[in-house]
Amino acid sequence: MNQNQFQSLAGPKLIHEAIWIQAPGRINLIGEHTDYNHGFVFPASIDKKMYFGITHNGESGENWIWAYNLDKEATFKSGDYNPEGSGWEKYLQALIQIWIEKGYPSPSVRLAFGGDIPLGAGLSSSAAMGTGFIYGLSKLMGIEIDRWDIVKIAQAAEHKIGANVGIMDQFAVLFGKESHAMKLDCRDHTFDYFPVNLPNHQLVLINTKVSHSLAESAYNDRRAATERVLAFLKDQNPKIETLRDISLDGLQAYRDQINPLDFMRVENVLEENSRVQQAAEALASNDLKSFGSLLYQSHEGLSKKYEVSCEELDILVDLAKKEEAVLGSRMMGGGFGGCTINLIEKNAAEEVAKRIMDSYKDITHLEPEVYFVSIEDGVKEIS
Ligand code: GLA
Repeated sequence: MNQNQFQSLAGPKLIHEAIWIQAPGRINLIGEHTDYNHGFVFPASIDKKMYFGITHNGESGENWIWAYNLDKEATFKSGDYNPEGSGWEKYLQALIQIWIEKGYPSPSVRLAFGGDIPLGAGLSSSAAMGTGFIYGLSKLMGIEIDRWDIVKIAQAAEHKIGANVGIMDQFAVLFGKESHAMKLDCRDHTFDYFPVNLPNHQLVLINTKVSHSLAESAYNDRRAATERVLAFLKDQNPKIETLRDISLDGLQAYRDQINPLDFMRVENVLEENSRVQQAAEALASNDLKSFGSLLYQSHEGLSKKYEVSCEELDILVDLAKKEEAVLGSRMMGGGFGGCTINLIEKNAAEEVAKRIMDSYKDITHLEPEVYFVSIEDGVKEIS
């Protein structure tokens, strides 16, 4: 589905002249489960998008929503929150509630949304939805809002519906820039754009087509584990405010006092942070071989130490390793399914992706999907 198709179907349903917004999905080159640990991430926004048409809905205080991909409608009052509601409806209610809590005027909108970001693929369709909607709302109401405030509203709405996520996804969707990845410091929120010009290589996502149900609880568990260790370290040394304030060597000194599983999780966070730094240097100096090897190392850590991979992701990465034209491959996003991100030599990319997918099908009897992604701008208004 493209922008024109969406607009021609959604336009009549919105009745009045609408404001149109697009919000992309995101990839993350490297730096996983580091954002909520005040570490580094390296995401970019991509050419898979969610579109929104938004307009006023009179004075009723009611919102009317149309979810294009599901062809479902919902109506609810601003401020209402029904925890039993369907996922997207509950999420929109949470977004509106938080918007109001922040002191913005209570909205009454007609909203249509839909797009081509695959669900459950780890490409942050939900961050696209949250940030795109709030951005559209601010445009419709003529309210100037800082993009970082949108990040925080969308993140708070995720927390409200039970996903204790960090800020990477919302940040990536809002701040993305064509042909650039962003290295974000999640401690002080400073970031740098890195050009991603790959004349001879291609970023390829392969979707396992699984999304295991334990993802959300395991995500929250991992977050709780690293926060537990941080609390302990703070007690030991008041100079430690975040996991960024301790080195790998420094951490070793506490090995005997921390439960081994928690220790291993935190060790991986520190290692992953250092991999992001190295990967940024490698990319800047066009050393794609080192960059690719860091992707493999990242996967190993996420699979063996942080334990957020799954059999299907591991199979894809193992198959990638057998291919000479693949420089690196790893699970991407929260884990337990979704996509791997692969850096592949351009002239072999199609053939290699096909071979990996065929073998994956033989082993798992699942139907994977492949996306040759390009990096595009973050959330913006479209005509
Ligand atoms: C999900 C979360 C992000 C981040 C990643 C893992 O995508 O939404 O905040 O924690 O997982 O890196």
